[in-house]
Amino acid sequence: MQFHCSKCGKYYPINGLEYRCECGGLFNLEKDQGEAVPQLVSLGEVVTPLLQHKFHNMALHLKLDYMMPTGSYKDRGAFALINKLKELGVTEVVEDSSGNAGAAIAGYCAAAGIKCNIYLPDSTSMGKIKQATAYKANVVKVPGSREDTAKAIKKAAETTYYASHVYNPLFFEGTKSMAYELYEQIGIPDYIVIPTGNGTMLLGAYIGFKELGKLPKIIAVQSENCDPIYRKLKNLPSHQYTETAAEGIAIQEPMRVDEIIAAVKESGGDMITVTDHDVKVAQAMLGEMGIYVEVTSGAALAGALNYFKNSYSSGLKIVVPLTGSGLKK
Ligand SMILES: Cc1ncc(COP(=O)(O)O)c(C=O)c1O
Ligand SMILES: [Zn+2]
Repeated sequence: MQFHCSKCGKYYPINGLEYRCECGGLFNLEKDQGEAVPQLVSLGEVVTPLLQHKFHNMALHLKLDYMMPTGSYKDRGAFALINKLKELGVTEVVEDSSGNAGAAIAGYCAAAGIKCNIYLPDSTSMGKIKQATAYKANVVKVPGSREDTAKAIKKAAETTYYASHVYNPLFFEGTKSMAYELYEQIGIPDYIVIPTGNGTMLLGAYIGFKELGKLPKIIAVQSENCDPIYRKLKNLPSHQYTETAAEGIAIQEPMRVDEIIAAVKESGGDMITVTDHDVKVAQAMLGEMGIYVEVTSGAALAGALNYFKNSYSSGLKIVVPLTGSGLKK
């Protein structure tokens, strides 16, 4: 198993400190036939349920990924990444996410006995870091802007393994498991509607379905308040981003934007943006059914309801992953 630069083709070891190529390119994973990540550490991962529900006339398959051990689909990525690092004998990592990815990495590091340091801007609310702190992660608060935190994590990554959910392809090797589960549950869906910030679920689904031989049409959903991938795909000028209720997908500069656009296009899919209002309405609709997800997860349902408003036909297999638990906040 090696890292492979997507730009110049250079190879790197997966246990090294380099997290991107010296040419600036991002890494993909290259594996030998049959090579899989080990399963040394578990928090009791489950095959998440697929629940069919009718919204107006539309039957959707809800993939309940908030039922993962730390309460979000990020456990798929953290499981693969931390298990591989455990096998390689890595004893300490750094990561920079205050949200679900940070909690997932911290949880699996706790299970694996790997020291975990999470770098965050010091303005981050305490509520968001409660879970990682419970997993005994060392939370490093960096004074200043988000940029200052980015600088600090890069400095830290010079000496400690960077378990990044964005740069490290081992994370995507985990998020692809959703595709395999869906294949077992309903075969290849016609559509999958994915809330997208850095694209860790989207690219994982793409890799998984590619391996299975057929892609569903991927509909990527962004918030209209922060929609850089949508704007690039649609050739629209960028605009000033504002806060959004869907904070999990509010990524202003997604590193893998070109890969995400290429995956959506190859699948014959599309992109859509949603308003905060629609996201909250969708979250509330789920609540009324007994499904309690975080606001960001409402974006996927809102996107599906908007996208298929005029084009739904019965018999279409449409999957809407519900990514994060409402119990965290
Ligand atoms: C609940 C939830 N849904 C969706 C996403 C989107 O994931 P990504 O940024 O990898 O596209 C995130 C990311 O943090 C999330 O926390
Ligand atoms: Zn390179």
